[in-house]
Amino acid sequence: MRKVIAIITGASSGMGREFVRVIATKYSFLDEIWVIARRIERLDSMRGTFGDKIVPIALDLTNSSSMKVLASKLHEERPNVKILINSAGMGIIGRFDETPENEISDMVTLNVNALTSVTRNVIPYMSKGSYIINMASSAAFLPQPKFAVYAASKSYVLSLSRALRSELAPKGIYVTAVAPGPVKTEFFGNAEKHHKIAFYKKFVMADPRRVVSLALKDAKLHSDISVYSVTMKLMMILTKVFPHKLLIDIMNLF
Ligand SMILES: NC(=O)c1ccc[n+]([C@@H]2O[C@H](COP(=O)([O-])OP(=O)(O)OC[C@H]3O[C@@H](n4cnc5c(N)ncnc54)[C@H](OP(=O)(O)O)[C@@H]3O)[C@@H](O)[C@H]2O)c1
Repeated sequence: MRKVIAIITGASSGMGREFVRVIATKYSFLDEIWVIARRIERLDSMRGTFGDKIVPIALDLTNSSSMKVLASKLHEERPNVKILINSAGMGIIGRFDETPENEISDMVTLNVNALTSVTRNVIPYMSKGSYIINMASSAAFLPQPKFAVYAASKSYVLSLSRALRSELAPKGIYVTAVAPGPVKTEFFGNAEKHHKIAFYKKFVMADPRRVVSLALKDAKLHSDISVYSVTMKLMMILTKVFPHKLLIDIMNLF
């Protein structure tokens, strides 16, 4: 019998950890939950907190050999992957021309390349009724000066997710992109290493538990996108109605 599993990247903190918590406590049909991140001690401690179904896999997803480790494990164990959640991601706030090149490269490698490779490696092990949740961001809706690479990387995630959803639907595999505004997690510890976030974003900071709860509900409904909060839904509509140049000029006033 093939094991029925979930795979969650970025599992050691923030929304990834919250996905693990909810799935470990409510999705009893799973035999294992593979949790991926770099901080192995955090992943190991999840076994104590959430039980023996947790399988910690310490990987730096910006390192190309990591993908080979995951691909080999999938090839050896041939699991039935019912849920894939790509939550690993990072952003650095600041002007493009002032951000160190290695930090720009890390953002693209993790948010774009790693998410793409993990997804490509996992899909062959998915079956009818499986689903993929990709963490995009409301930053995907509009180019963002001083968060340019991050916003562009999340536009990629949103675009990829929507196209994959269409390709995979005939196989009964569904893809949901999650596009929240700012969420209260460790994300900003890294993101604010050079510059602070725009002050107005602090007023719309969401609770990760609510974002994750809605994402799981939307994924079950086979929604193409999960947008938490009225403000971010409004933002999505504005970016469809008004020229992006105008919205960027307004954003630059703050
Ligand atoms: N927080 C927000 O405001 C917000 C808003 C919209 C979208 N998002 C997106 O939501 C997702 C989750 O963010 P979060 O807020 O939960 O952030 P977080 O608390 O900082 O979690 C990020 C996760 O990614 C993992 N990670 C980072 N670099 C990695 C690497 N090189 N290899 C493997 N794993 C790595 C981290 O684990 P280790 O450090 O242990 O490796 C951590 O588990 C991200 O894709 C983010 O872009 C966040």
